[in-house]
Amino acid sequence: LYTAEVKAAYRGPLPSSLPPHLYSVGERARRGVWSCNKDQLILLSGESGSGKTEASRLLLHFLTASPAAESPYSVPLHAAHTVLQAFGNAKTRRNDNASRFAKYLDLELDHRGDAIGGSLTCYLLQKNRVSEQSPGERNFHFFYQLLAGADPHTLKCLRLQRSVDHYSILRASRASAADSADDRTHFADTKHALEVLELDAGEQQAVLCVVAAVLKLSNISFAPVNNIDGTEGCALQSEYELREACSLLQCSPDVLSAALRTRSSTVTPAGGGGGSDVESVATELSAEQASRARDLLCQALYARLFAWIINKINIAIKVEGNGRRKVLGLLDVFGFETLDKNGFSQLLINYTTERLAQVTREVTVQQRQEEYMREGLDWSYIDPCSDLLSLQ
Ligand SMILES: Nc1ncnc2c1ncn2[C@@H]1O[C@H](COP(=O)(O)OP(=O)(O)OP(=O)(O)O)[C@@H](O)[C@H]1O
Ligand SMILES: [Mg+2]
Repeated sequence: LYTAEVKAAYRGPLPSSLPPHLYSVGERARRGVWSCNKDQLILLSGESGSGKTEASRLLLHFLTASPAAESPYSVPLHAAHTVLQAFGNAKTRRNDNASRFAKYLDLELDHRGDAIGGSLTCYLLQKNRVSEQSPGERNFHFFYQLLAGADPHTLKCLRLQRSVDHYSILRASRASAADSADDRTHFADTKHALEVLELDAGEQQAVLCVVAAVLKLSNISFAPVNNIDGTEGCALQSEYELREACSLLQCSPDVLSAALRTRSSTVTPAGGGGGSDVESVATELSAEQASRARDLLCQALYARLFAWIINKINIAIKVEGNGRRKVLGLLDVFGFETLDKNGFSQLLINYTTERLAQVTREVTVQQRQEEYMREGLDWSYIDPCSDLLSLQ
């Protein structure tokens, strides 16, 4: 279905005898860029598991393949796809490789219509998955890839154990043997893709250190402590994990421990006049609050790592020079899902997919109705905006 022959058949003017195909969508968008002199957008929408990300990968292959040979510019674009899947995708109950973020890729096309680079924007990474997953689901793929695929020396440097059972954020989603084999292979692919994206050895090690630090931090636990003044505080129970996480993050254990167990706020003492009298007050957190602070720190670290990787991808796929170029956008979002427990991030995901569905409806339904109106046809009006979450 996606061989080089099929690719060639859908390149150029499309005869009506050709059956519908993903490549014909790609070719019409590519030709539209130059023939209509307008930038184009391919919007991939549908439920989770319906094939959006796979379609975007196939489209990318189609749009980066010149008839003679695979374009050399395509290599970083494909590497970016591999890295994004490792860090931004996870197994859910509906899809073993579900996108947990939305990605918009602006592909720049050369005069022949081949994609030669572009820029990437990612939205709404479901970062709370770092700390908790629903039953039957997994954390982001890269955690498992690292443990299954890294060689013993790398694991030792990162102070990690091979088994997922050692890490509280992975234990619940224990990988099966078959998954481990896949994770091992995918770790090699992700590592190679990071090299293609020109992350040097130090940067690759830094990525691994942040992921390892998240695993270590998530193991830190707190015990409740009753203070003399009657307030509730907490004591760190995993000094060892904290020290290892700090050595990976290159920060002081005392500073991190205090940051997790207390909340700082600034107060102006009664009668104090100017801003110079503002005092910083530290309040002890309960064990439950400190655990929440730990989870938020893990999520923030992972989300910042993801943003940093996007930045590196953008540097690698940026098109140099000032030639005449056009843009073809490729939008691949997370699919609509209704889970047993739907948090705020699920609301945002579903709201986004619904708004995008509205755009599609407007284009396909509203424009068609305007055409009927112009032609004076008799039909029953269909409201393209009906049943939207935003109207409720
Ligand atoms: N064109 C295809 N050919 C073969 N298999 C496919 C194809 N499209 C999708 N699949 C299969 O379906 C699975 C789910 O597809 P994909 O991850 O692309 O869905 P998605 O719409 O991006 O889902 P989500 O919204 O959860 O990210 C793939 O892992 C693959 O196994
Ligand atoms: Mg997807």
